[in-house]
Amino acid sequence: MQTELNRFEASARDAIQKAKNLNELLEVQQQFFSRKGELAQLMQALGQLSNAEKPKWGQAINAVKEDLLSAFEQKQVQFEREAMSKTLENEWVDVTAPGMKPKLGHLHPLSQVQKEVEDIFSSMGFEIKDGPEVESELYNFESLNIPASHPARDMQDTFFIDAPAHKDFGRLVLRTHTSPVQIRTMQEEGAPLRIIVPGRVFRYEATDATHDSTFYQVEGLLIDKNISLTHLKGVLKEFLTQLFKKEVTVRFRPGYFPFVEPGLEVDFGCLLCDQKGCRACKQTGWIEFLGAGMVHPNVLKAGGIDPEEYQGWAFGFGLTRLVMMRYQIPDIRLLFGGNVDFLYQF
Ligand code: FA5
Repeated sequence: MQTELNRFEASARDAIQKAKNLNELLEVQQQFFSRKGELAQLMQALGQLSNAEKPKWGQAINAVKEDLLSAFEQKQVQFEREAMSKTLENEWVDVTAPGMKPKLGHLHPLSQVQKEVEDIFSSMGFEIKDGPEVESELYNFESLNIPASHPARDMQDTFFIDAPAHKDFGRLVLRTHTSPVQIRTMQEEGAPLRIIVPGRVFRYEATDATHDSTFYQVEGLLIDKNISLTHLKGVLKEFLTQLFKKEVTVRFRPGYFPFVEPGLEVDFGCLLCDQKGCRACKQTGWIEFLGAGMVHPNVLKAGGIDPEEYQGWAFGFGLTRLVMMRYQIPDIRLLFGGNVDFLYQF
């Protein structure tokens, strides 16, 4: 009996030691401790012994069994712990690690500058206005003192909508400038007025580095009593100084637009070279900035305002060109080419 017990204990202990995982341990349990296992066979063998020997060997087998079961349980606990820590390892999250930064979009440089322009003019009491991009010929041309036969129509050749002409408003056209909103606002609100109109305009234009067929302008209109070009100079100087955060010089030259009289071209002193002359200002020290002038009496009349009582000035500048100047972008096509890597720079 002793030999069998020794053999049982040695092989069970060895099997427990060698088990590499819970599954193998279960096989050990099956082989040694199940109802038909080796321990059960030993217990059966006990039945063959004399009554005097039975209790002694019964106790001896039980002692071995307790000992082996405790080794078995230790091994089982060890495997369960290992399994648990593996799960934890897999599911572990370092809550202190820096987060992954999502790539955020931002406003297009044109929208950024438009917002700055709006803020500056708002601070001077100007209202921000909007108008339709598909405009009538009447508002885009006739009301602005540009009749059908006028040569100025050639300067703003554009895209017409293929639809029958209205008897009063004429054909539909993609607006060539933001100036029609002058007439619309005068008709809606009367005088006095102080507005700017940022917006998209269109021209039938061959594209190059500084010209596109779609671009943005900002119109300005101020109508009141006793208004002169001095106010225009003051407003533009203040606007540019705030925009560029640097004292800016402004100069007027005569210019022609049918809807103003007198008409002006306005330049400002080049900020890149302090007016000494550089490539940006074509060595002149001045940057051509906008068209402007005193609103023509015919335009005031078209807007329903009495030119004997009120007068005012208007200006229109290319927002797209201003953005190019601001960020020194050499080609207008880069702004709307849809190249996100380019736009992320601003
Ligand atoms: C006008 O459009 C007038 N409506 C401006 C005006 C308003 C004058 C009120 C007087 C009173 P002009 O065609 O010059 O003017 O255009 C104004 C500005 O738009 C130009 O100075 C230029 O900066 C910009 N611009 C004109 N054509 C293009 C183009 N194809 N691509 C990009 N910018 C352009």
